[in-house]
Amino acid sequence: MKMYANYAATSPALSAAVVKELCGYLGETHLNAGRNFEGLEAGTIALRARRAIARLFDVSDPLRVVFTGGATQSLNMLIHGLAWEGCHVLATGVEHNAVARPLHKLHKNGVIQLDWLRCDPDGSLDTGRLRAAIKKNSRLLVMTHASNVLGTILPVNDCFRIAREYGVFTVLDAAQTGGVLPLAMGDCCDALVFAGHKGLGGLAGSGGFVLGKAAADASGGIRQWMSGGTGSASASLDMPDFLPDRFEPGTQNTIGILSLAASIEEILRIGVENIMKREQGYTARFLSGLGEIKNVSPCGTRDPARCVPIVSVVVRGRGAGEVSRLLFEKHDIITRSGLHCSPLAHQSAGTFPDGTVRFSFGRGTTEEGVDAMLEALSTL
Ligand SMILES: Cc1ncc(COP(=O)(O)O)c(C=O)c1O
Repeated sequence: MKMYANYAATSPALSAAVVKELCGYLGETHLNAGRNFEGLEAGTIALRARRAIARLFDVSDPLRVVFTGGATQSLNMLIHGLAWEGCHVLATGVEHNAVARPLHKLHKNGVIQLDWLRCDPDGSLDTGRLRAAIKKNSRLLVMTHASNVLGTILPVNDCFRIAREYGVFTVLDAAQTGGVLPLAMGDCCDALVFAGHKGLGGLAGSGGFVLGKAAADASGGIRQWMSGGTGSASASLDMPDFLPDRFEPGTQNTIGILSLAASIEEILRIGVENIMKREQGYTARFLSGLGEIKNVSPCGTRDPARCVPIVSVVVRGRGAGEVSRLLFEKHDIITRSGLHCSPLAHQSAGTFPDGTVRFSFGRGTTEEGVDAMLEALSTL
């Protein structure tokens, strides 16, 4: 039987209850929202999902939840909507390319000034570096909550508090932490971006962002990166000025949104705290086992309480791709090798350009599975 250790990339299977709901929907009421009488159904599904997401991130108004095609699209919408000509933007040295590439492009084209905040080799960030880097024209700080390579959790609350003292708009990339760590939006950030297909257990191509109260009230200040039909305020050639329609042009991915509603309701029943404890246990077991294996070194923090369930390793004398292939061919273990769409994190960790073999744990992981992964690494 294959052992999946690539949850940081995507959840390999939807839960049985979610699949059942999706099958029922596809066979009966596959309509869009606001474009049919019966299509009200899709609007109801979206509202149900907005409510589940609002509960998950402790947001008082579900209409501040915007659906997009995923975390990458959300980040592009927010970055292009906020990073205006001549402004200064800050991001960390462990960002995913979903953040790094749009920012790099704007910088290369002379649109923005950009500073990457240096992270330590274990992926941690000293908040003093942020304070020192803020300038008069700093407008935007984008930060991943946890590195998708090193697993290390960043001090987002402290960083966002500092940034907001200077009037900097704050965007949290919670792609790796939604449904994995308890996360209350509160006053933490202005916008929280989520990916549907990872810890939230939904379909690929689902995701979105949530705006904080003040950001939502001033959402006219976020330029629209995409516009089009919303099924509302159709007499006007301008996009509606109300949420969520302002940022939801085009027919929505209702099946993806339904997968989010069903999966997040399940997550809320289980409790994110319980999910976190369970997965932290696997990370602790794996890290402690690695300590016994010569030639294999973990990257990132070695404290399971300071990371999400991701452990990247380097095997002395072996390329990452070769190790990942051997684990798959000889031991049926699915990992991911290489740079994991985050060259910046590898530059911080000192593993660029060779990359690492990444193990990441989730819903289907077991203690026996973790032990088998350790055993396999010890025989390489
Ligand atoms: C930290 C981080 N941000 C953004 C993304 C992009 O997410 P999506 O696949 O929803 O576009 C990923 C995906 O791996 C990620 O790990």
